[in-house]
Amino acid sequence: MPTTRTALPSDAAAITELTVQLGYPGDIAATRHRLERLLARDDQLVLVASAGGKISGWLQAHAYDVLESGFIVEIVGLVVATDCRRSGAGRALVQQAQLWASTRHAQTLVVRSNILRTESHRFYPALGFTVSKTQTVYEKPVQHPSPA
Ligand SMILES: CC(C)(COP(=O)(O)OP(=O)(O)OC[C@H]1O[C@@H](n2cnc3c(N)ncnc32)[C@H](O)[C@@H]1OP(=O)(O)O)[C@@H](O)C(=O)NCCC(=O)NCCS
Repeated sequence: MPTTRTALPSDAAAITELTVQLGYPGDIAATRHRLERLLARDDQLVLVASAGGKISGWLQAHAYDVLESGFIVEIVGLVVATDCRRSGAGRALVQQAQLWASTRHAQTLVVRSNILRTESHRFYPALGFTVSKTQTVYEKPVQHPSPA
């Protein structure tokens, strides 16, 4: 059975390896720096799952207030190693996030998942999540004024 715990800065390399599986660049130093910042905040949750001493997955969740819909916890990242899937690690991580949301009196646990991540669209419904809307995500680089 996978177990879960709060991530540690020393988990950066294992987390980065899994992040690469998610399709993002693998920069251990940057991951460690972000982890240290996140772990210092009480509105952020970063968990790892481990099985047999090896880190098999991670989850990040963020708690925030939204004017129109109240206090929300959102899962902003979740991945389980390809060779550890279907062994309950994803479920265990989400259950811990649910517990964290509950202790903070959040109204809703939310997750947005790319339509291309096919497993996730079987996974979340199996855990009791329902589709609330379909969105298009827009982004734009932030311009920084050059120093005078
Ligand atoms: C989605 C993901 C996190 C699931 O992790 P996991 O550890 O394999 O999931 P679990 O073993 O806890 O599965 C729990 C239940 O979800 C359902 N489920 C999970 N993966 C499934 C799949 N590929 N097909 C059908 N059902 C699936 C099953 O009902 C499963 O229970 P069961 O194995 O007893 O039948 C994992 O597949 C993953 O990392 N995918 C790539 C990244 C991703 O999509 N992340 C989510 C982005 S928000």
